Amino acid sequence: MGLLTIDEDRCQKDGLCALVCPFRLIALEVGKTFPRAVPGAKERCIRCGHCQAVCPHGALALPDMEQEWPPFEAGRLPDLAQLTQLVRGRRSIRVYRQKSVDRELLGRCIELAHFAPTARNSQQISWLVIDDKEELRRLTEHAFDWMRSLLASDDPLAGHYGVQGLIRAWEKGYDGILRHAPGLVVMHGPQDYRLAQMDSTILLTTFELIAFAQGIGTCWAGFFQMAAGNWLALQEALQLPEGHGLTAAMMVGYPRFSFQRLPPRQQTRLSWR
Ligand SMILES: Cc1cc2nc3c(=O)[nH]c(=O)nc-3n(C[C@H](O)[C@H](O)[C@H](O)COP(=O)(O)O)c2cc1C
Repeated sequence: MGLLTIDEDRCQKDGLCALVCPFRLIALEVGKTFPRAVPGAKERCIRCGHCQAVCPHGALALPDMEQEWPPFEAGRLPDLAQLTQLVRGRRSIRVYRQKSVDRELLGRCIELAHFAPTARNSQQISWLVIDDKEELRRLTEHAFDWMRSLLASDDPLAGHYGVQGLIRAWEKGYDGILRHAPGLVVMHGPQDYRLAQMDSTILLTTFELIAFAQGIGTCWAGFFQMAAGNWLALQEALQLPEGHGLTAAMMVGYPRFSFQRLPPRQQTRLSWR
């Protein structure tokens, strides 16, 4: 089967499909010939779907991508005030209700975040949600072991991150790494995929905004991620698929408190040329 099919009754030979193709894999003489895939296109195509999505006449189809293609109405987007609510209103949540986030709701947020961009549309990053209290505790204990090792080796990071205080608090029952969050979203991808970190950050950033809009609190788990990158026992306990590494992690849970004000930021460092 070819890469694309053209409905010749519908095609207006306007060439939009060729213009939006990121790798110029579609050729035609505008107004004269029907679009066709160039030699080798099937192998080089990243299945971004732009050619089919842009066609105003519904003339082009990608047989490889038979899933539903819902219509998109460009006029129906959140306005700036709504976006301000979303972007400025999102907070890092560090105090959670002790109730697991509904898996179906969380799953829907993840499914939507999955539409965020990935390099070459390669979609190589996987999601793992851990909402088992005991497992979270075990993982956190490993992360604290990493912190203890920093302290024991006089690593300057220990002072920088206030590791001694965090360990002391943990020993008294306060979790300063995962903040007693009832859930942890772990992103993981192939260790040899160079843009895994970048893709994961984009996916989780998108997820975080969606989750916030759905009443779910989140917080980047930077300490946990550092521990996972440096502590073998934690890597093993995570039991990720062979050849995969943790690329990002985020706490999730229902927030205990709501915020009443939007905190300011430092002035934007923006220059123009
Ligand atoms: C990469 C990254 C790692 C972070 N790691 C942690 C963390 O381990 N623990 C934590 O409590 N907050 C963590 N944060 C949250 C930041 O402290 C927070 O985003 C910042 O203070 C601004 O607050 P806001 O998110 O409520 O706007 C992290 C944020 C980012 C972007």
